[in-house]
Amino acid sequence: MHKKNIALLTSGGDAPGMNACIRAIVRTAIQNDFQVFGILNGYEGLIDNHFKKLESRSVGNIIHRGGTILKSSRSQRFTTKEGRKQAYQNLKENDIEILIVLGGDGTFKGATAFTTEYHDISIIGIPCTIDNDLFGTDFTIGFNSAVQTAVELIDKIRDTANALGRLFFVEVMGRDVGAIALTAGLAAGAEDILIPEIKTDLNELSQKLKQCKHKESFIVVVAEGDDAGGVLEIAASFKKMHPEYDVKTLVLGHLLRGGNPTATDRILASRLGVASVDAILNGEKNGMIGIKNDKISITALKQCQKHFLTINKEWNHLLKLLSF
Ligand code: F6P
Repeated sequence: MHKKNIALLTSGGDAPGMNACIRAIVRTAIQNDFQVFGILNGYEGLIDNHFKKLESRSVGNIIHRGGTILKSSRSQRFTTKEGRKQAYQNLKENDIEILIVLGGDGTFKGATAFTTEYHDISIIGIPCTIDNDLFGTDFTIGFNSAVQTAVELIDKIRDTANALGRLFFVEVMGRDVGAIALTAGLAAGAEDILIPEIKTDLNELSQKLKQCKHKESFIVVVAEGDDAGGVLEIAASFKKMHPEYDVKTLVLGHLLRGGNPTATDRILASRLGVASVDAILNGEKNGMIGIKNDKISITALKQCQKHFLTINKEWNHLLKLLSF
C-alpha cells in the first residue's frame, strides 16, 4: 500500500523543546506507516525545496537539546503569494498533503494564509515559542524553559546586587507580552515587575522601592515590550529621579532561547507531537494542537493568533503582596 507522506518544519524564533517535539512527531508517524520529511530552515526551506527524509534514528539523542535540528527562519518570501505558490508546488512535487509546522503567531499567520489559498494541503500547527502568547493553548513549548533560565540568571544577579547594595533593572524577552517577566519575576522574588499589560508609573516604582529600603538589594524585572520602553530608558529616567540608588541594567535577551529544555517542556513537546499525528489519523485539518487544563485540544488555525496576557485576580494579588 502506498505510504502517505508527512512533512514538518520549525519556523520563527527557536524554542527549547522543539527537538523533543520533532522526535515525538517522527517516531509516532513512522510507527503509523507514514513517510516523514523534514524541511530545513522553516518556510525558506519550503520555498527552496530543502526536503530531507527522516528515519527514527534521525531524531535519536535530541530530546535534551535546545534549538532545532531542522533549523528555522523568519521568511519574508512566505508572506507573499508568489512565495506561498512556490511552497505549494514543492509540496505537490514531493507528494506531500500534510504539513506540521512548529512555531509562534507569525508562523500560524503564514499557515492560515497558505491554507486559505490551497485547500488540498492540511496544516497542523504546534505552539513553539518562549513568549506563551498564543490563543488556543495554556502553554507554548519553550515558555517553561525560558522562565527557568531567567530565574536562574536573576538568582545570580541577586548575589552580586546583595554584595554591593545595588538596584538592577533586568530585561527579559516576550515580545509584546509580559508572561515571562511576570512568572520569572515572581519566582525570583523581584521587588517589582514591569509588564506591557499594566501601565508603568515610575512614581509607583519609587514608592514600592521606598517600602523595601530595609533590603540589601533591589531587582526590577522588565518585559522587553513594556510601555515605558526597555531597561536602558527606564533606568535612565529612574536614575534622574533617584540618584541615591546605584543602578545597573542587564538585558537577558537570547540567553532565554538557549539551553536544554526543562522536563516540563520535554513532556509538553512529546504530548503535543504525538497528538499532532493522532489528529492527522483522525482526519483533522488546519488546526493547532494545544493544552488546556492539562488536556490536549485542537483549535482552528485561523484563531491561533497573538493572545495577550490577562492578569487574573490571583496574579494581581501575588504581585501586590509578594513582589517586594
Ligand atoms: O518570539 C520569540 C522571541 O524570542 C521574542 O521573545 C523576541 O522579541 C523575538 O523572538 C526576537 O526575535 P529574533 O530572534 O529574530 O531577534
